[in-house]
Amino acid sequence: MFEALKAQPADKILSLMAAFRDDPREDKVDLGVGVYKNAEGQTPIMRAVKAAEQKLWQVEDTKSYTGLAGDAGYHEALRSLILNDTVSKDQVAAAATPGGTGAIRQGLELIRMAAPDARIWLSAPTWPNHPSIIKYLGMPMAEYRYFDAETRGVDFGGMLTDLDTAKPGDVVLLHGCCHNPTGANLTASQWQEVADFLKAKQLIPFVDIAYQGFGDGLDADAFGPRHLAKTQPEMLIAASCSKNFGVYRERAGLLMAVSQDPSKTPLNQGTVAFLNRQNYSFPPDHGARLVTMVLNDEALRADWLTELEGIRTGMLTLRQSLADALRQRTNSDRFDFIAQHRGMFSRLGATEAQVEQMRQSHGIYMVSDSRLNIAGLNAQSVPILADAIVAAGV
Ligand code: LMR
Repeated sequence: MFEALKAQPADKILSLMAAFRDDPREDKVDLGVGVYKNAEGQTPIMRAVKAAEQKLWQVEDTKSYTGLAGDAGYHEALRSLILNDTVSKDQVAAAATPGGTGAIRQGLELIRMAAPDARIWLSAPTWPNHPSIIKYLGMPMAEYRYFDAETRGVDFGGMLTDLDTAKPGDVVLLHGCCHNPTGANLTASQWQEVADFLKAKQLIPFVDIAYQGFGDGLDADAFGPRHLAKTQPEMLIAASCSKNFGVYRERAGLLMAVSQDPSKTPLNQGTVAFLNRQNYSFPPDHGARLVTMVLNDEALRADWLTELEGIRTGMLTLRQSLADALRQRTNSDRFDFIAQHRGMFSRLGATEAQVEQMRQSHGIYMVSDSRLNIAGLNAQSVPILADAIVAAGV
């Protein structure tokens, strides 16, 4: 049997991690995988998470199973963080999942059960794991224009023109904030326009939100999903706590199926619980519990907010200093978009050959599509990157 297996295409983000590890140069710079790093290059455990972990060790008295859909307290804490009071509890079916990827996978499986012919519309470009999972599940997909290669902003006209060809019942996958890989995001008024458009065309939003708090702040970053939750008859949300709580390896994610009509929620809830049972029975609990403890404890929450805000503003400072360094070197404002982008990533707009050149000459590792992780920079590496960008002729 095993001889029938075929080698699978390498994930370009994960293979970059291995290439970086194997590079012997001391001054190499990792701008690859989307993991937050401080100025010392470490991915620290957030203070509030560590404190919650200590407390949990003392008070947890069983490791028996949670519910099939995870812990209701976790659902409620994240529903409130992401959607605030835009919908009530009885409008939301939720299931804890292994990370944001688990939530995306379960959401797609729900769509396949309910509407097997629905096409899933993806932004061009998007996180490579989106099309990879959709293809693996054998679901129809299509792309809508999103990134304007010239301005490095959103091609909003192109986006709506392409989505205009979608059929009623198709699903539109949207990045809730901090678009991965481009860093270019919809404005509040564009979100409103998208919401009106989706509703008029009877398209269903599926929001992937993995970086809430990394862009313009926790509330501003949730504007899109909140507005959609208020206005659309139904929607799906896949959320990740990996980044904003720094619990990457704990795999804490959540799938939410939101419906204006609360009478739909029990069926939705039964479905997401069923899907968990088919794929892994009970979801992981440790990371989810830490997140719940942090959100529900006033002091821990305040400390988490302070640390998260420090991470966010630190990335903004790095963005600004990179844009300034490039302004100085090129005597132009061509790279100002870096300061305007939000979240962990920016797409530089370099060719694959230029990305390769930067890797060879300066030991800079960014994804081949020229996505760079801003949090991989520090005061020392900003000028090195600026030099490399100029030398590569980007
Ligand atoms: C990324 O985009 O780099 C992260 O979301 C990590 C991953 O799993 O790809």
